Amino acid sequence: QTSALLDTFGRNHTYLRISLTERCNLRCTYCMPAEGVQLTQKTKLLTKEEILYIAKLFVQEGVRKIRLTGGEPTVRKDIVEIIEKLKQLPKLESVGITTNAIMLTRLLVPMQRAGLDALNISLDTLKVNKYEQITRRKGWERVIAGIDLAIQLGYKPKVNCVLMKNFNDDEICDFVEFTKDRNVDVRFIEYMPFTGNKWQTDKMVTFKEAMDVIKNTWPDFTSLPNGPNDTSKAYAVPGYKGQVGFITSMTEHFCGTCNRLRITADGNLKVCLFGNKEVSLRDAIRGGCSESELIELISSAVKRKKKQHAGMLNLSQMENRPMILIGG
Ligand code: GTP
Ligand code: 5AD
Ligand code: SF4
Repeated sequence: QTSALLDTFGRNHTYLRISLTERCNLRCTYCMPAEGVQLTQKTKLLTKEEILYIAKLFVQEGVRKIRLTGGEPTVRKDIVEIIEKLKQLPKLESVGITTNAIMLTRLLVPMQRAGLDALNISLDTLKVNKYEQITRRKGWERVIAGIDLAIQLGYKPKVNCVLMKNFNDDEICDFVEFTKDRNVDVRFIEYMPFTGNKWQTDKMVTFKEAMDVIKNTWPDFTSLPNGPNDTSKAYAVPGYKGQVGFITSMTEHFCGTCNRLRITADGNLKVCLFGNKEVSLRDAIRGGCSESELIELISSAVKRKKKQHAGMLNLSQMENRPMILIGG
């Protein structure tokens, strides 16, 4: 019997990313257009019960890691309860969250009590004024406080930094230095195109460019072993407490080892971050599909998953959602 989550290229999907909301308390320029996005009406978003039911099905079929995303997942009122319920799924090994950290000083203790295993935090600049420029909101100090709280509570947060030319490419070394005394994993991400984010090739800072800058200052910058499905390539400055990673989606894609599936807040299964061939699990559930029919629906979508997303230049023309409606 073949697994429902195994695709035709031998990739077994054990990692599910669930978007809990389309809303966010920030307005990052690379994630959403200035005018905002059309939000799905509330009745068309997944309820807590539907999310937990879908999670249960996927865990039953082999998912071992769930990551909660958004929008910003912490703006959803039942986030703590969702984490707590997910943690009751016996075979699930990890529940993580990707957050902008604005709400962490208020929510991290309850989320940890609910069983949160891991957290990834978005932070693109170490300068307050630039933070307000990129997020179109205030809150830099709260993010730093959130990171420090996470460390204090025993987490090793991953700090996601999307590199953009003439915005934060002068801060690469500052971010490396950020790992000196902190048990964090800073990850530089190549800027990716999504609907409405005005991506251009020349706004991108490539893995190679970032690496050259770092090697200039730290010739002993060393590569570390990676997990089989990691999105990032790990490095560190010897003697520094934290690590530095590179997520090279644009210049060296990692589709060959992709183990990720996504559920959007409006209930679509998305088998790849790019492309818009989605299947509505919400409609299937609300239409009264049985459990086995749902699994069949999921399995057939997984079997249609492509070997990789199209090449770098094609990506920018690909029909997709804005990032805020995907969750990364
Ligand atoms: P871990 O679960 O801790 O391994 O982190 P992650 O890298 O899977 O997730 P995170 O939410 O921190 O995302 C970091 C960056 O990686 C974001 O820019 C995501 O869009 C990108 N990313 C995550 N999954 C994929 C993927 O399947 N394909 C591509 N191309 N990028 C991805
Ligand atoms: N390119 C690369 N990464 C992005 N993220 C959001 N938009 C983009 C983009 N256009 C990152 C965020 C967050 C993660 C889920 O995705 O920084 O940490
Ligand atoms: Fe997986 Fe698609 Fe990301 Fe490639 S682009 S790693 S196939 S989700």
